[in-house]
Amino acid sequence: MSTPIKISQAADYVGQTVTLTGWVQKRTDKGKLQFITLRDGSGLMQCVVFKQNLPEDQFTAARYITLESAVSITGNLRAEPRAPGGFELDASQFHVISRAEDPYPLAPKRDGGEHGVDFLLNHRHLWIRDPRQVAILRIRATLIKAIRDWLDGHGFTLVDTPIITPAAAEGTTTLFATEYFDEPAYLAQTGQLYNEANIYAFGRVYCFGPTFRAEKSDTRRHAMEFWMVEPEMAFTDLYENMEIIEQFVSYCVQTVLRERAAELAALGRDTSKLAQVTPPFPRLHYDEAVELLRRNGFPDFPWGEDFGAPHEDTISAQFDKPVFVHHYPREVKAFYMQPDPDRPETVLACDLIAPEGYGEIVGGSQRMHDYQTLLEAIERHRLPRAAYEWYLDLRRYGTQPHSGFGMGLERVLMWLAGLPHIREALPFPRLYRRFYP
Ligand code: 4AD
Ligand code: MG
Repeated sequence: MSTPIKISQAADYVGQTVTLTGWVQKRTDKGKLQFITLRDGSGLMQCVVFKQNLPEDQFTAARYITLESAVSITGNLRAEPRAPGGFELDASQFHVISRAEDPYPLAPKRDGGEHGVDFLLNHRHLWIRDPRQVAILRIRATLIKAIRDWLDGHGFTLVDTPIITPAAAEGTTTLFATEYFDEPAYLAQTGQLYNEANIYAFGRVYCFGPTFRAEKSDTRRHAMEFWMVEPEMAFTDLYENMEIIEQFVSYCVQTVLRERAAELAALGRDTSKLAQVTPPFPRLHYDEAVELLRRNGFPDFPWGEDFGAPHEDTISAQFDKPVFVHHYPREVKAFYMQPDPDRPETVLACDLIAPEGYGEIVGGSQRMHDYQTLLEAIERHRLPRAAYEWYLDLRRYGTQPHSGFGMGLERVLMWLAGLPHIREALPFPRLYRRFYP
């Protein structure tokens, strides 16, 4: 009698005969002893295949099994403190479910060298099995859950927004165009404008889904398809918005630290700085940020320009926590942001810049709530008014100061997991000029 179990259940079955099904991740040949590391998605198990414990043909099958073959192994489960995971299986049966072709393209290279980035990306469908990739994507799943848990627990209702849209929201240069029958259409750059309609029904809402930007830039921080969570709140100003952001981000960070400690350790992430991420976060007016840049390597930085990656890195290097920059110049921000009544050349916007050089993780603002101001902004940006009539309508029926923000999931994951490039933050990344597989 043997019980089929997942490797993660091992602790409950010590001393019993169990059957595991999974893939051969590693095999070490010691003649009559074969050590097979089995992976089943729930964990890793070292399986000891000793010649005298199995029928001859099964031992031979084990001895010549190829990497990534699908197998089933039955045996007695032992506690073994020296084994990775703390358990070992003494095999008494070994069955091949499918033998993988040899060599496995992503097998460790004989010369000990590493596979190139292009090669790995072209084999993403296989690369995803790699333990490092698994650790990263588990952290991603936990981060997604933390995001949902915090918002669901703080009065936000999930309201999904459309992906096919008739108009731009974050600037016309990064739209992916498509066709909606015989009309032009675009993939959503944000769900925000629809969120703004939804707050009138729910007060506080969020959308969380894929977002599309045709960013013609091949940087380590840009994906063409990325996931963004966007909370939106009625009767909320810029300052309340920043308070929500810092509580929300802190919860997400601390939850991941607690629930994914093993994965973060496996990735070699030093989490000491992350542990300090608690409210409040430092806040810099754009004017102060410009002063800071001028004192730190950018003496001629002109007031009015947007920050690029080197500027963000210089700003964030001064702080151990994420830092807000608020009141950006109106010219560098989206059309819908509320101008500061005292200094209308600036807007009530706030970006949150992650520490350790991970760049902007959140972009938020107070939105224009006045009909006339918004109409002028739409005209100023030469946006097709007809496509925004519904958005203008929101300023005619119950308008109020409201705010919200968007947090890029992959940016936050890069920061938490310490990833040098966004390509590892998505299961199947869509990067500049690359969308295979
Ligand atoms: O600052 P962004 O463009 O803001 C908006 O889209 C607003 N409508 C959000 C809102 O207020 N509801 O984007 C928000 C965040 C950025 O801070 C960044 O984290 C992420 O989305 N992001 C990207 N992540 C990966 N690849 C890209 N190409 C990204 N562009 C933005
Ligand atoms: Mg932004």
